[in-house]
This record gives sequence, C-alpha cells and structure tokens, in this order.
Amino acid sequence: MNIKPFRLAHCLLFAASALVLGACATTQTGPTAADNAREVEALARRHPAPYDAKQVSDAAVLQAMRASFKDSPSARLDRLDQTPLQAACTEASRHGKALDPKVREQLQAAALASVKYPADGKYLGDWKRGEAIAQSGRGLQYSDPVGTIAGGNCYACHQVDKKEISFGNIGPTLWHYGKTRGQSEEIVKYTWARIWNSHAFNACANMPRFGDAGILNEAQIKDVMALLLDPASPVNQ
Ligand code: HEC
Repeated sequence: MNIKPFRLAHCLLFAASALVLGACATTQTGPTAADNAREVEALARRHPAPYDAKQVSDAAVLQAMRASFKDSPSARLDRLDQTPLQAACTEASRHGKALDPKVREQLQAAALASVKYPADGKYLGDWKRGEAIAQSGRGLQYSDPVGTIAGGNCYACHQVDKKEISFGNIGPTLWHYGKTRGQSEEIVKYTWARIWNSHAFNACANMPRFGDAGILNEAQIKDVMALLLDPASPVNQ
C-alpha cells in the first residue's frame, strides 16, 4: 500500500474509516513531533509490551485521535464521528473479521439508495477540469481557508493519466477506464455511483464518499467522470 508522500498531508480529507484516519493522524502538521513522541510514550506506558490491540479501548483510541487533530473552521473535529457504516467496518476489522454478509448487504443497499444522479441526465463534463480536480488535494484541510473549493485527490490512491507519474495504489488503476469499459448506460451510472458513494459496492471500501459527504459538487463529479469516460480524455488514448 502506498500513498505518495507529498499527498499525505491531504490524507485527512479522505479518511473513510477510523483505520485510514489512524494512518493519517501521524502526518498532520498540527501537533509537533515531540508532542507525538510524548503521546506514544504515554500509550506505551499504559499498554506495556507485548502490545495487544484488544487491550486498547475504543475510548482511548478516540481520545488519542482527538488529541492529535487540530480543530479549525475548515476541518471540524466532528469528522471523527463515525457513521454507522464506518463504525461497523471498524468493529469488524479490529477483530480481523469480514462484515456479516447480511449487514454488508443492507449497508451497501442504503449507500446505493443515497446516490443522487444528475437532474439534467448529463453525466460527462470537461475532462480538462476533471484532471485538475483529480490532481488537487486542497480544501477541507485544517490549514485551508474556509470556502476553498475541494479537489478529489484521485491520484493519491489511483493511477489515472499515465503522464502523471506520482500516484498511490490503494485503489486500482483507472488508466484506459473508458477505453476498456465503454460508455454504456450501465457503466456510466455505475461510475457515477462509485464516485458519489463508493460504499454502495464495497461497504468497507477506503474510497471517500465524494458526493454523499459533500466533498465534490455535481459539476465537479461530471468533470471527473469525463476524465475517466470521455473518448477524448488522455486517459483513453
Ligand atoms: C483514499 C483513496 C482513494 C481516493 C482518494 C480515491 N479512490 Fe477511487 N477507489 C479507491 C479504492 C480502495 C477503490 C476500490 C474499492 C473497492 O475495493 O471496492 C476505488 C475504486 C474506484 C473506482 C472503481 C474502479 C473499478 O474498477 O470499478 C472508481 C471509478 C474510482 N475509484 C474513481 C475515483 C475517482 C474519480 C477519485 C477522485 C475523485 C477517486 N477514486 C479517489 C480508493 C480511492
């Protein structure tokens, strides 16, 4: 698993579960390295080796996370409050188990039902704007001015256009996405729903809910859709 280092600062925006959140916590620029070291020492004293994750209570983990995030008008601490889906996924993963299949199905169905498709029936915007959105990890960070328009930071987890050599691989490559899948109504709607709320297809997927969580607006999602699906997009050359 690899997130490009310079994109790590943007990682908080994309925390889809407490696990991802935990991975991001150490890279936030709020507390200093010395603060973090003190916190780790204190935790180690309270939970001596051999370290057993099950001994650390949820309350202790939440407390450590709250202490290491800095509240700001563009990144409120309420982002640490989990949705029922995130809580279920965290609970399953800390016990090293998959979600109960019935619960998983219910959560995915609810996520799919939450998807809002474009009112005008047009799914594709401008791939050039889409590329800029895919590149940008700005917005919703504690250091961003309030009102900054957020990007999608797709490259943090996906290869998209091959010309960009800096990308992470938490998600699958999206190179040739439209070229290999075509633009059938089914594919177009699937891709829209994936971007709107990825949990509709994989309850515990680590992909942010771009539409559902209000990270990207409808016009921005159309532009990102064009980047993936427009035959003229460099992704499909
Ligand atoms: C934090 C990491 C992360 C970010 C950021 C991210 N994704 Fe994903 N994405 C994933 C993961 C992980 C999957 C696979 C999900 C699964 O396992 O079901 C995925 C899957 C997808 C898929 C489905 C691929 C397929 O083969 O069906 C699409 C489309 C997609 N992402 C588009 C995007 C776009 C567009 C953006 C930016 C707006 C984006 N992703 C940002 C992690 C991410």
